[in-house]
Amino acid sequence: MQTLSRIPVEQLTAEEAEAELAFLAAEVARHDALYHGKDQPEISDADYDALKRRNDAVEARFPLLVRADSPSRRVGATPLPTFAPITHARPMLSLDNTFSDEDVQDFVASVYRYLGQIPDGSIAFTAEPKIDGLSMSIRYENGRLVSAATRGDGTTGENVTANILTIAEIPRTLPAGAPAIAEVRGEVYMAKSDFQALNAQMEAEGKQTYVNPRNTAAGSLRQLDAKVTAARKLRFFAYAWGEMSEMPADTQFGMVEVFRAWGFPVNPLMRRLASVEAILAHYRDVGMKRPDLDYDIDGVVYKVDRLDLQERLGFRSRSPRWATAHKFPAEQAVTRLTHIDIQVGRTGALTPVARLEPVTVGGVVVTNATLHNEDYIRGLGNTGEPIREGRDIRIGDTVIVQRAGDVIPQIVDIVPEKRPAESLAYEFPKTCPVCGSHAVRDVNEKTGKVDAVRRCTGGFVCRAQAVEHLKHFVSRNAFDIEGLGTKQVDFFFETDDPSIQVRTAPDIFTLEKRQATALARLENREGFGRTSVRKLFDAINERRSIALHRLIFALGIRHVGETTAKLLARAYGTYDAFAEAMTAAAPMFGPEWNALNAVEGIGEIVATSIVEFYKEPRNRDVIDRLLQEVTPQEAERPQTTGSPVSGLTVVFTGSLEKMTRDEAKAKAESLGAKVAGSVSKKTDIVVAGPGAGSKLDKARELGIRTMDEDEWLAHIGE
Ligand code: IVH
Repeated sequence: MQTLSRIPVEQLTAEEAEAELAFLAAEVARHDALYHGKDQPEISDADYDALKRRNDAVEARFPLLVRADSPSRRVGATPLPTFAPITHARPMLSLDNTFSDEDVQDFVASVYRYLGQIPDGSIAFTAEPKIDGLSMSIRYENGRLVSAATRGDGTTGENVTANILTIAEIPRTLPAGAPAIAEVRGEVYMAKSDFQALNAQMEAEGKQTYVNPRNTAAGSLRQLDAKVTAARKLRFFAYAWGEMSEMPADTQFGMVEVFRAWGFPVNPLMRRLASVEAILAHYRDVGMKRPDLDYDIDGVVYKVDRLDLQERLGFRSRSPRWATAHKFPAEQAVTRLTHIDIQVGRTGALTPVARLEPVTVGGVVVTNATLHNEDYIRGLGNTGEPIREGRDIRIGDTVIVQRAGDVIPQIVDIVPEKRPAESLAYEFPKTCPVCGSHAVRDVNEKTGKVDAVRRCTGGFVCRAQAVEHLKHFVSRNAFDIEGLGTKQVDFFFETDDPSIQVRTAPDIFTLEKRQATALARLENREGFGRTSVRKLFDAINERRSIALHRLIFALGIRHVGETTAKLLARAYGTYDAFAEAMTAAAPMFGPEWNALNAVEGIGEIVATSIVEFYKEPRNRDVIDRLLQEVTPQEAERPQTTGSPVSGLTVVFTGSLEKMTRDEAKAKAESLGAKVAGSVSKKTDIVVAGPGAGSKLDKARELGIRTMDEDEWLAHIGE
């Protein structure tokens, strides 16, 4: 094995750096394969990390040499594994949620009502913690564990048997007398203590730490190599079942007792209770114990205890009538707000971000939280309605931070008694902190309401907007220029050498010309090797011919996302036709304006935004210069004759196995279908892969046709 170069990073020439980055990419990939694939590592973890650190250091000094296959760009060391599907003998259901005491009373009352009984407290319920892990169905045949599957879409899950076998607390065999076929279901999770120990180890090794126990458990289970799963300690609680050739008990409580007797871990906080009062008291008790439990829980599940009653109650579309999950409120913590930063986005939106004294919220250290907008800080909505009863948020305040699921943490309130005496109301900037231009809040002409977002009016003058624009322009669904990532855009934007500066999109395409006349400036500069410069120019030149919808999307017109850009490209066919129509639509009446509004999927807000964009001379100038460099292709007219999905709206959800999301979308669109991101009454077909969640629920609720990937492919004749 070639060893690490001993030349200090500061002394490397670009040529040497380029060679070394190539070596490091290959070497790290080789060790990844040895470690994950064959489990025969050749080097210690510390040496492996040294390779990655060296790679990072070289890249930090030579940002333009970052390779597409750089170890710093790879997410996770192994590719996403694929598991064989397993169709559940009985579907794996989800639970309805309840949030308040009244909801719980309603749930109990509805059970009595459905069964035609007066609510006399005669029906017993079980109450047990809702474990925040992954549900699993483990099948035993003739007493032996034969398979284990994730929930997937409820009907079909993934076969993760090898990984489940690494969990010591799951029995391999059932005792004599157990049913010939027994599917035991429950939750796989990672204990908080094991999670913390794992993170401490990652930190000591200089590796990136994990976010939370649930995601870590999910990642461990999804390892194709069970040895990796084995290295992480996963655990299990049994609480439900699928197919049973005979029932070993006739109550929920009894079934769980049987599981315990069979050797499964069962949750010690499960109770059998009859009155709503007792149920709610248990909920509060579990809530109090929550911080001290060694596993994450997010609520308490109530189930009708008698199985014959469960049978009679049956199911709604996807959840049982005999059970509900009483969720805990989102996790909160108290800390101090030390500073408010304003971030400026591509469209000029000024977003306030709270900087906090680090605090753990539900097991995650939080140092930043969103403050949404100026009204939110002020405690008064845009129509004068109070937020947090009108309390404002100030620097120095003690604040309540909330984290719910995977969303960005937010500040929900302050602790008024802890406000420092000398504190002042926060003055939201009226000018852009980056360019100094006025920052204004638009008034919606229709509603007369003031927009909650204050925006910088600097447009291209604003460095923040300009650089964010460029990043958008080169991004994956726009021009997708390889070798021109965010780091490189920053470099070209910030450099003060005019011969290689890139301030607007057309500058990207004149770069090669300009630097050639300036006598190969790029090549001789720090950070550029000959090969990398050539590669970058090749990648840029490859995009001189560009799909029309990519160009329209790349322009960064507010409200024009990828889908809208495609609709416009399809409707207008060529760039010239599009631009001409947008300019002609400016009076906001007349045939062009009406035609734009008639394009399926284009509403007034989008139409106005496009027309405003084309009114701006500066935008037209940039586009004119761009069109001297690039040629937009004519949009493909969808070949839809005889297509079974022409004119239909399709939603893809869950993971697809035979094609990428992008491919599936492109294929459907080429057949004349419209691909939407969310399910509504207008949706015609929902194609659901494993892991489909709320969209599939909604489709079923609305009675929309659903199909799996194979059915879809058969349907479109693939
Ligand atoms: S019972 C038919 N009990 O919650 C009911 N589920 O939102 C089957 N969960 O997919 C589920 N703890 O992953 C049940 N004690 C518990 C649970 C529990 C966690 C999860 C499970 C399920 C989801 C439903």
